[in-house]
Amino acid sequence: MTFMEKRVKRVGIVFVEGSSATNGKRLWCVYAGKARVGRVSIERISPSTGYVDILISVKHRGRGIGSAAFRKACEESGYAKVIAEVRKSNTASIKALRNAGFRESGETKSKQLVFAWKGIK
Ligand SMILES: CC(C)(COP(=O)(O)OP(=O)(O)OC[C@H]1O[C@@H](n2cnc3c(N)ncnc32)[C@H](O)[C@@H]1OP(=O)(O)O)[C@@H](O)C(=O)NCCC(=O)NCCS
Repeated sequence: MTFMEKRVKRVGIVFVEGSSATNGKRLWCVYAGKARVGRVSIERISPSTGYVDILISVKHRGRGIGSAAFRKACEESGYAKVIAEVRKSNTASIKALRNAGFRESGETKSKQLVFAWKGIK
């Protein structure tokens, strides 16, 4: 178990799936203890690939929640592959994606970094 996994385990996040999940998009509210700390969604872009987006409340950042939520969303989604796009300046997101097991896989036309997570088959 890595340091981050230990930290993430201590944080102990819980997902509650939102009712607005439609058209292949799943949305979860993220809780740490009793506090609602953010949300994460995964949109279907192909039968095997999802696209993740996340927002953690400012006051709850820097505790490993983003990293844990990225990973949990990928695992819960059931997709073989999950993609994320992020600005090069978004250091926290890049670190959180790497912590969650994402690897850099290219760049969009608008010069955003593309990260990919691949599930264990
Ligand atoms: C990106 C985001 C989800 C990260 O959430 P988080 O709960 O702070 O993530 P973590 O606590 O797991 O932190 C991940 C890493 O970023 C670091 N970090 C956190 N805030 C940071 C900041 N403002 N600047 C630089 N690094 C930061 C943490 O220290 C941690 O580093 P480590 O791996 O060396 O320990 C959150 O900042 C956010 O909601 N941002 C706005 C929305 C966004 O950018 N979404 C991404 C779209 S893909």
